[in-house]
Amino acid sequence: MTGSANRGNRPPAERSGRTAPLLLVAGGKGGVGKSLVCANLALALARRGRRVLLVDLDLGLGNQHVLFGSSAECNLEHVLLEGTSLREATVRVAEGVDLLAAGSGEPGMVGLAPALRAALERGLAELRADYDVVIGDAAAGIGADVLWPAALANRVLIVTTPEPAALTDAYGLIKALDAHGHRSALEIPTPELLVNLVAGPDEAERVARGLRVVSERFLARSPRLAGWLPRSSEAAQSVLTRRPFVTRQPGSLAARCIEALAGHVERSCALASLKLLARSAE
Ligand SMILES: Nc1ncnc2c1ncn2[C@@H]1O[C@H](COP(=O)(O)OP(=O)(O)OP(=O)(O)O)[C@@H](O)[C@H]1O
Ligand SMILES: [Mg+2]
Repeated sequence: MTGSANRGNRPPAERSGRTAPLLLVAGGKGGVGKSLVCANLALALARRGRRVLLVDLDLGLGNQHVLFGSSAECNLEHVLLEGTSLREATVRVAEGVDLLAAGSGEPGMVGLAPALRAALERGLAELRADYDVVIGDAAAGIGADVLWPAALANRVLIVTTPEPAALTDAYGLIKALDAHGHRSALEIPTPELLVNLVAGPDEAERVARGLRVVSERFLARSPRLAGWLPRSSEAAQSVLTRRPFVTRQPGSLAARCIEALAGHVERSCALASLKLLARSAE
C-alpha cells in the first residue's frame, strides 16, 4: 500500500506481536456489496487454510448472520450491553470461519459511547491472537462507527460500483479517513478498491484509475485496485438462499473473482503481519 500518512500510536495488542491483521471492508455508499464481499472473502480465505474471524461492525443493522443463515441469538449487542464475553458471542458459521454478529435495531449500538467502544477494542485485540486474519464489515457512511475501526485496521478495502454516486461516496470516504488520520495522529492505511458490478478487469481498472487520479491530486494518496466482481445471478441468489456463493457455486465467475481477491488479501496481510512483528520488536 502506498501513501500511509501518520506513523504513530497503535493499540497495545499490536505491540505484543501475536495478533492477526485486521482488514476493514468499507465503502461510503450503502448497498454496494460490502457485506457480500466480506462473507465470501472470509470463506475463500478459510478454504486457503486461514483461521478467519468475521466481525459485523454494522452494529445497528447487522447482516452477516443473515448471509450465513445463522440465527445470531448471541451477538455484539449482548457483549456491549449485557456483559456477555466476546468468545461466548463468537459463532462458527463455516469450517474456518467464526462470526461475531451484530444485532439489529438497537439505537445504543449506533455511534457507540466511548466506554463501549474502548471495551470492544480491548476485546477484539485479545481475540485477534486466535486467528490468522480478521475481517470487519463496516457500516455505510463516514461516521465515527467507520472511522474508529479504520484506525485499528492494517488494511482497508473500499467497495464501490461504477455509479457516480457510489464513486463520489468512495472518494468521500477516502478523504474522511485521511482527515481522521491527520486529526488523531493515527496511521490509517491508504484504502484499496474492490469495484463491484463491472463487466471485467478493464472496466474495474478504469474506475479505480479515476479515483486514484483524484486522490493523488487532492490527498497525496494512491488507492490501488485489489479486485473486482461481476453482476452475478449466483451472488443475488446466494443472498436469498442464505448460502454464500463461494460455497454454493465455487466454479462461478463471481467465486473465482473472490478467490483472486483472497490471494491478494493473503499476500497483503502477510506483509501486514511482518510489519506488526517488526513493530512489536521495536
Ligand atoms: N455482484 C453482485 N451481483 C449481484 N447482486 C449483487 C452483487 N453485489 C451486491 N448485490 C446485491 O446487492 C445487495 C446489497 O449487498 P450488500 O448487503 O453486500 O451491500 P452493503 O454494501 O453491505 O449494504 P449496506 O450498506 O446496507 O451494509 C445484495 O443483497 C445483493 O442482492
Ligand atoms: Mg452491509
